[in-house]
Amino acid sequence: MKTSQTYRLTAPSLESLQLFTETVPAIGSYEVLVRMRAASLNYKDNFYLAGAQGIQLPRPTVPLSDGAGEVVAVGEHVNRFAVGDSVAGNFVQDWLYGPLADHAANSSTTLGHGIDGTLTQYRVFNQEGLVALPRNLSYEEGATLPCAAVTAWNAVREVRPSQTVLILGTGGVALFAQQFASALGARTIVTSSSDAKLARAAAAGADHLINYQSDPDWHKKARELTGGKGVDHVIETVGPDTLERSILATRRDGTVHLVGLINPVGKIDPMLILGGTVTVRGVRVGSRQLFEEMNTFIERKGIHPIIGHRFDFSDARDAFAQQLKGPEFGKIVITF
Ligand SMILES: NC(=O)c1ccc[n+]([C@@H]2O[C@H](COP(=O)([O-])OP(=O)(O)OC[C@H]3O[C@@H](n4cnc5c(N)ncnc54)[C@H](OP(=O)(O)O)[C@@H]3O)[C@@H](O)[C@H]2O)c1
Repeated sequence: MKTSQTYRLTAPSLESLQLFTETVPAIGSYEVLVRMRAASLNYKDNFYLAGAQGIQLPRPTVPLSDGAGEVVAVGEHVNRFAVGDSVAGNFVQDWLYGPLADHAANSSTTLGHGIDGTLTQYRVFNQEGLVALPRNLSYEEGATLPCAAVTAWNAVREVRPSQTVLILGTGGVALFAQQFASALGARTIVTSSSDAKLARAAAAGADHLINYQSDPDWHKKARELTGGKGVDHVIETVGPDTLERSILATRRDGTVHLVGLINPVGKIDPMLILGGTVTVRGVRVGSRQLFEEMNTFIERKGIHPIIGHRFDFSDARDAFAQQLKGPEFGKIVITF
């Protein structure tokens, strides 16, 4: 009988992340057994450690939505994958295509939330809940894709060459948005609190850089960079604190893609949307179809996710502690 080293969050605190030895269940006809090789953290994972203020999970749950690994066994009716394939789990396991469904909205089938996640050596997936990794990516790189990259792709996929995209910050979603927008042929403006991070964003292809701390009127600067017209798209990774300025930076009939919920409390003046004839569009990760579309794009353009920190499986708690400290530059990855 095969066993798996598996982390579970037994309560919403870092100390409650505990390692167990569990029996790997037998696979059903349409299921796939994956030897997980890497997992990755996101901003949202802080909420699962935040005690009474955070997200309460109903039972000890395997954390993390993001992970990649190798197919080691397939059920008799599996036709999407074969042993040896490199795969990643889809964030909402059964959101395959189309708009966000009710079950996707309530997270009941989201990895690491309603169902067990990826911080385990072996995991059984229904074949529909997996995507093939882009062939140019390692397991570590592939593990960064399910949440931040799919969200960024959902936000930027309609961007056209010669358009200008304003991207707030240099977090996980923002860096993917910058890489995708540049690869789509757009001009990018990246903001950050740190000149050092801006220099790294420039090295990753950002065209214009604004320090939002030394220049709190960054929306005016962004407008100036477009000759006063305004940017075509904003990747709004922050939320109410910055939304008004994001709208003010946007051209008539441009789009603010609202992704962020850092401090999700606040009011904005809706007349700015009307006056600027701006569309504010809510973005929530994405379907399997978007994930697969993005992977084709990543492979075709030779894009590689930016990784900031690597931790061994045995040091998973240190990876969560690093995430809790706040963002540096690049994704935090755990390798198995
Ligand atoms: N809607 C969805 O489906 C979805 C999916 C993924 C993430 N999210 C949300 O999107 C947000 C970002 O996620 P993430 O994973 O990219 O987080 P992250 O890696 O922790 O990055 C957060 C970044 O936000 C930037 N930031 C903070 N305050 C800012 C401000 N006032 N102006 C501009 N930038 C600011 C910082 O950039 P600097 O360090 O450069 O200053 C920081 O790096 C979070 O709220 C997360 O929950 C939503």
